[in-house]
Amino acid sequence: MRKQIAAANWKMNCSLQDAEKLLTALSQKQFSLKENEQVVIAVPFPYLLMAKQLLNGKPSFFISAQNCHQKDSGAYTGEVSAAMLASCGITHVIIGHSERRQYFNETSDILAQKTDLALQHGLTPIFCCGEDLAVREHNEQNHFVESQIRDGLFHLNTEAFSRVLIAYEPIWAIGTGKTATAAQAQEMHAHIRKIVGDKYGNEVADHTTILYGGSVKGDNANELFSQPDVDGGLVGGASLKADEFEKIIHSLS
Ligand code: 13P
Repeated sequence: MRKQIAAANWKMNCSLQDAEKLLTALSQKQFSLKENEQVVIAVPFPYLLMAKQLLNGKPSFFISAQNCHQKDSGAYTGEVSAAMLASCGITHVIIGHSERRQYFNETSDILAQKTDLALQHGLTPIFCCGEDLAVREHNEQNHFVESQIRDGLFHLNTEAFSRVLIAYEPIWAIGTGKTATAAQAQEMHAHIRKIVGDKYGNEVADHTTILYGGSVKGDNANELFSQPDVDGGLVGGASLKADEFEKIIHSLS
């Protein structure tokens, strides 16, 4: 059975004190997650260790970084490597979020290198893809997302690919309150699963977790997550409120 995941992406939000409050609130909530259900929380770098500590003992909860550098170590002032994250006991890392592609000029080549290093160090990459509004208006989203996945991931062998989580996040739905309809999400997720199947075979495709991201909220998560190819969500704004994210976690089942 493939994993179903509620993932939070806090982006560049929260003071240390706010982060502590939010994590403590989540740690005190009761969840009865099934064996294949997980919660991943991607916090800013300075809060990673605190988050790990505060959610330690919470079964099926994992802490993620939001990025890592494409080199293993060296003179790259201000950067954080996959090796460092692994040495801190962090298990996941978001790679290729549209905000990083857009504002930090992260190309597919760079993202492929980041993915390789994350996997080498035993981290689970959450590889993001998704088109902007212009691409969607030209109805070129399938081809666009396919290229992002091919260029960022399809150099991997089957074993390595099997450890990757994919997040489809249409840019026009991020932070806009304009969620993709459940049908639009399902259509793209089915397309992604098909291209993964064409490359790695149906069994791998069937086991690949594909998250939807873009204005997921407590009141739309159920409908989105109930689509056959939507395996949970990557949640920005709504993950900054404990009660709202709690509702989204409950929508996994
Ligand atoms: P919102 O949920 O705020 O739209 O953000 C989605 C996102 O970018 C998660 O990575």
